[in-house]
Amino acid sequence: MSPKNNFSTYAPRPATLVKKEKLSDLVSLFEFEQDNGKALAHKPGQFIMLSIYGIGEAPFSVSSAPEAGNARFELAVRKTGTVTNALHDLKEGTKVGIRGPYGSYFPVQKFMGKDTLFVAGGLGYIPLRSLLRYQLKHRDEYGRIIVLLGTRNPKERIFVDRLAQLKERTDMEIHETVDVPDKNWKGNVGVITTLFPKVEINPQNTFVAMVGPPIMYRFCIGPCMDKGIPSKHIYVSLERRMKCGLGKCGHCQINGLSACVEGPVFKYDDIAPLSEAI
Ligand SMILES: Cc1cc2nc3c(=O)[nH]c(=O)nc-3n(C[C@H](O)[C@H](O)[C@H](O)COP(=O)(O)OP(=O)(O)OC[C@H]3O[C@@H](n4cnc5c(N)ncnc54)[C@H](O)[C@@H]3O)c2cc1C
Ligand code: FES
Repeated sequence: MSPKNNFSTYAPRPATLVKKEKLSDLVSLFEFEQDNGKALAHKPGQFIMLSIYGIGEAPFSVSSAPEAGNARFELAVRKTGTVTNALHDLKEGTKVGIRGPYGSYFPVQKFMGKDTLFVAGGLGYIPLRSLLRYQLKHRDEYGRIIVLLGTRNPKERIFVDRLAQLKERTDMEIHETVDVPDKNWKGNVGVITTLFPKVEINPQNTFVAMVGPPIMYRFCIGPCMDKGIPSKHIYVSLERRMKCGLGKCGHCQINGLSACVEGPVFKYDDIAPLSEAI
């Protein structure tokens, strides 16, 4: 679903880093508060542009659920280069700039009353967590919630404590796997596709929310369709290099589509004909 961008939101606004928490060796969770005291008013799957003064700007998915009246929001970020390293070095209390939220989002209204199959590969769990938390806040409005989660190895797992709490819940299912185990790992071993045979679903009543590395889409969309899920029920999020986030610079083009405006969340039907997209 693609919203109309509002030009008044294009100027960076100040926000303050209020809390920082390490999730793995390279990934940390950052809680920010908008200085204007207003809620970010994002939709699950949308991203913001975050700027660190004197360093640069980069796009990040919002990992918290939208909450009316709450000026705080969370990002989970992996250290990879200039902006992300600087972000990890920031002290609590530091001011940053934010623009957005931008982009399309998971259609939470359409998912209402239906079952949701989450397919999360690695850091793909970050934007999906926003949708999952939204659905859990509005639990009565959704059917079954089934999460398939794959990570390369146990050391790279993120949100470990929170996942353990979610696994205790009786109103949702989580199936987790790692590609390569360590000596303490007791769960499933293998790529995420090894989890598909473990779940029984009602395909006509199920929507899929899938985020992960590009290779994962190639191997996971087939099993979803083999289970009988209509392709128009499959939503994926595609990240591309982004600069403006406004559909102006052309950095994020996918065969003429701007991933920052028409995406990052796409209905699979809409991008399946674009061989380069997935
Ligand atoms: C819509 C969207 C949402 C995103 N959400 C998250 C998120 O929630 N958490 C998170 O950790 N990251 C997320 N990313 C990726 C994040 O934006 C990049 O890691 C970041 O821009 C890197 O900036 P840098 O200055 O630290 O790295 P740079 O110094 O610019 O580059 C360091 C390395 O990262 C690579 N890189 C830079 N940008 C990207 C990119 N977009 N995709 C893949 N590789 C890249 C470069 O090729 C280089 O190898 C998202 C990207 C997009 C487009
Ligand atoms: S990031 Fe500039 S057009 Fe999408």
